[in-house]
This record gives sequence, C-alpha cells and structure tokens, in this order.
Amino acid sequence: MNSRFTEVFQLTTPIALAPMALASGGALACACARAGALGLLGGGYGELAWLQTQHALALQLLQDDAPALKRLGCGFITWKLDEDASALDWLLDQAHLPAALMLSFGDPRPYAERIAKRGVRLVCQIQRLEQLPMCLEAGAAVIVAQGAEAGGHGMNGLEGRATFSLVPELADALAAQSPSTMLLAAGGVADGRGLAAARILGADGVLMGTRLWASAESLAATGAVSAALQANGDETARSAVFDVLRRKNWPREFDFRALRNRLHMAWESRVDELRAAPDAARADYDAGVAAQDYARAHVTVGEAVGLLHDAPSAAVLIERITRQAEALIG
Ligand SMILES: Cc1cc2nc3c(=O)[nH]c(=O)nc-3n(C[C@H](O)[C@H](O)[C@H](O)COP(=O)(O)O)c2cc1C
Repeated sequence: MNSRFTEVFQLTTPIALAPMALASGGALACACARAGALGLLGGGYGELAWLQTQHALALQLLQDDAPALKRLGCGFITWKLDEDASALDWLLDQAHLPAALMLSFGDPRPYAERIAKRGVRLVCQIQRLEQLPMCLEAGAAVIVAQGAEAGGHGMNGLEGRATFSLVPELADALAAQSPSTMLLAAGGVADGRGLAAARILGADGVLMGTRLWASAESLAATGAVSAALQANGDETARSAVFDVLRRKNWPREFDFRALRNRLHMAWESRVDELRAAPDAARADYDAGVAAQDYARAHVTVGEAVGLLHDAPSAAVLIERITRQAEALIG
C-alpha cells in the first residue's frame, strides 16, 4: 500500500487520522502514529489549553518511539484561526514540530508563510474544485478531497460534492497543475474497500474520521459510540441544526453531518426559525448533552457509520483496513 504519501511522511500505511475536534486527542493520534499512519491532533477551534494538554500527552506517550513521533501532526479550523491563531502560533514555537499542519474550512493563505517558515508541511482539506487554486497558492503539500458523505463539518447540501467523483476530478486537476502535490480522499472511507477504491481513483491515501472516532483511544463519549454502532448509513443528515444548537457561528457555506436524531428531525425543516429563536431548543439540547441522551445530543458521524460494527483499538483498525485493501488491490 505504499505511495508518495507514505514515503514523504515515513508511514507504513497510506492512512491519516482526521483531526477531529474533541475526539482526536493525544492518545488516538499516538495510537495511529504507532500503527504507521499520520496522527493528526484535533486542534479544532484552536483552544490553546486543550491543545497543550493533548500535545504534552502525545509527546509523553511517544517518547520511546522516534519513528512514530515523526508521524504526529495537528489540524485546525481555518476560519476560527482568523479570530484567534494563538494555538497555531504556540504549536509552531515548540521544539518538537508537527509532521503536518492541516487547515480546513477557510482560506489557508494567511497562515502559509508562518507554517512554511518552520518547515512544516501544509495539508489543506477542500470540498470543491474551485478551492484548489488558493491551496496551491498557499503551497499545500497535500490536498484532502472531502466528500459530503463525511462526518462533521463539510460543504453544505447545495454545494457539497460526493467523494467518488471529487477525488478523480481533483487527481486530474493536480496532475495538470501541480503534479508534486499529493491527494487524500476523505468522506465515507471506513474499511479496506474504501482505501483500495481511493487509491484506484487516484488518491495517494485516505483521511479517516468516523471509523477512527469509534476506537478505543478516541475521546468520543461511550454512549455516543454505542448509538453510532446501532445506526446504519441512512441515519445521518447534513444541516446547520447542531451548529445553531451548539452556538457555533459557522460560515453559511459549511454545515454539519451527524446522526439524524429526534431533535435534529424536529428542526431540520425549520432552520431559519431555529436561528431566529433558538433559546428553547438550546435548553432542550443542553439537557440532552447533560443527560447523555443521544436522541437530543449530537453524535458526529458520517455515512460510513453503517460500516462500523465494533470499536477496537486504532492499531487493530488500521491493520485490518490496510490488509483488506492490500488483498483487494493485489
Ligand atoms: C467527530 C468528527 C469531528 C470532526 N472534526 C473536524 C475538525 O475539527 N476539523 C476538521 O478539519 N475536520 C473535522 N472532521 C471532518 C474530518 O476532517 C473528515 O473530513 C471526515 O471525518 C472524513 O469523513 P469520514 O467521517 O467519513 O471518515 C470531523 C469529523 C468527525 C467524524
């Protein structure tokens, strides 16, 4: 399963852990790095204290494993950095620099110079072809093509693209415009079939969220994982409902895929009404979170949730997915 991606990042499998906010902590990033994948910490909204804790944990866990330490990186939500980039600046000031910095959801160009100055590779996650030029201008070493099947945030229902056609179209665009830039597929990849398909579609590897979110080392709540393991791929939806309920002011072009639970269904056709008067629904949501009631609290997974039947260690998952893909491609 070797590719340019495994060579450049010294991996043993062409898999990257998605930098999932509040799920991809130090333990999961380390487990992935030890298993030969790129382990990206979920820097998310750029909360400095969280990052400092998880980064310290990661360095401690990997102190005896120099090759794995070189596979540790981090991701941030770009539009949030526009408000406060102190976590990015802190990370770039550390003696141990990340193997890669991934920026998603916004313009990476304002951050490109400071990342390049420290010699850190830039990974940019995009959802449409039209976002490619700004990422190439930013000097991205890797483009992540995120299809709308993906769990968590992505391009909204009107403009989102599916992984299966976005990946080869971006592979062609990169071959023509910037052949040295690598490509990862994201959205819907949860087993060896997805990894093999991504490679055949022209990607150098995959970035996985949902599959690794349900793993022993993930910070995801146990109740949320149990709810996800009982769901199939029909049972997720994209909308702004949970962003409004969570008081997150995401730009309108992005929305959020999660399990389509009872609270989501109650508001999905009335999002403008929810935005205009959110208080009662937010109180209901907050009570759901406090009670770990996943008919009201969000469970952040993509369509690949239907391919999840267990939540073992990341090492078991990565080994299983890699072997299945090898067998299929071989
Ligand atoms: C629980 C969860 C949290 C996520 N948080 C982030 C995030 O903070 N930043 C980000 O760039 N992407 C985030 N994503 C999206 C991933 O980067 C990736 O595009 C997605 O997980 C790929 O699709 P998949 O879930 O089908 O594997 C998140 C995804 C999930 C499932």
